[in-house]
Amino acid sequence: MEIKDQLYEGKAKVIFSTDDPELSVMYFKDDATAFDGKKKGTIQNKGVMNNIVSSRIFEMLAEKGVKSHYVEKLSEREMVVKKLEIIPVEVIIRNLTAGSLSKRLGIEEGLELKETIIEFCYKSDPLGDPFINEYVARAMGYATKEEMEFMTEVAFKVNDILKEFFDERGIILVDYKLEFGRHNGEVLLGDEITPDGCRLWDKKTREKLDKDRFRRDLGGVEEAYKEVMDKVLK
Ligand code: ATP
Ligand code: TYD
Repeated sequence: MEIKDQLYEGKAKVIFSTDDPELSVMYFKDDATAFDGKKKGTIQNKGVMNNIVSSRIFEMLAEKGVKSHYVEKLSEREMVVKKLEIIPVEVIIRNLTAGSLSKRLGIEEGLELKETIIEFCYKSDPLGDPFINEYVARAMGYATKEEMEFMTEVAFKVNDILKEFFDERGIILVDYKLEFGRHNGEVLLGDEITPDGCRLWDKKTREKLDKDRFRRDLGGVEEAYKEVMDKVLK
């Protein structure tokens, strides 16, 4: 397989086409952004660590029957993926209160929820990923009824698997974002599953091990990403 043109440069990754029309290469950068790109920085070695973490998690999910775009880890910073037509609906799963949910509802972070929450956002940088629901997604043609139902079912399945996976490694999976895309008539899990898009807390100390360390200037960002990587590889 030969890497061809750059198709898209995002804030954290670059997508390349290849000589195989079915496949893309995803390159993981060290760039970090927060608050709709208003805060910018770099996290040393983040790209390398996120490629390792995401690859391991997609491999583990595949073993449990969850289909994703992941094909193989190509190099330190590159992953071969199935080329997706990304569905512009971000799927957020919450196991504990945090972030925008806490802000919206005026509640402290880290409270247990009676049930797992699923939320949807419209994937639009200029609009700042506004909150939507299933009816908006269908009415606007972002996704069909069947796709919304499928993404919901897969997101809850992924949550059961990931919660246990992290729990066994001494980490609480607080919340995270998933993306899906279409590939040859099939909907597959896409993008990445890393501390960039997940809130991960140490089970014993409740110390934050994710991008909130960068967002909130808590320090020890690289160390936190490394700790997650080391634990994911166990
Ligand atoms: P966005 O806000 O669009 O997610 P970003 O700058 O935060 O942008 P990056 O993670 O830097 O996003 O870039 C990755 C981009 O590639 C995202 O837009 C993501 O939806 C898209 N993407 C992820 N997996 C695939 C895939 N398999 N095929 C095509 N595009 C993909
Ligand atoms: P959320 O609490 O809604 O937003 P914020 O991170 O601004 O407080 O985020 C819930 C989880 O989803 C959190 O782990 C970060 C992740 N997420 C992303 O990675 N990208 C996004 O665009 C959004 C909306 C959430």
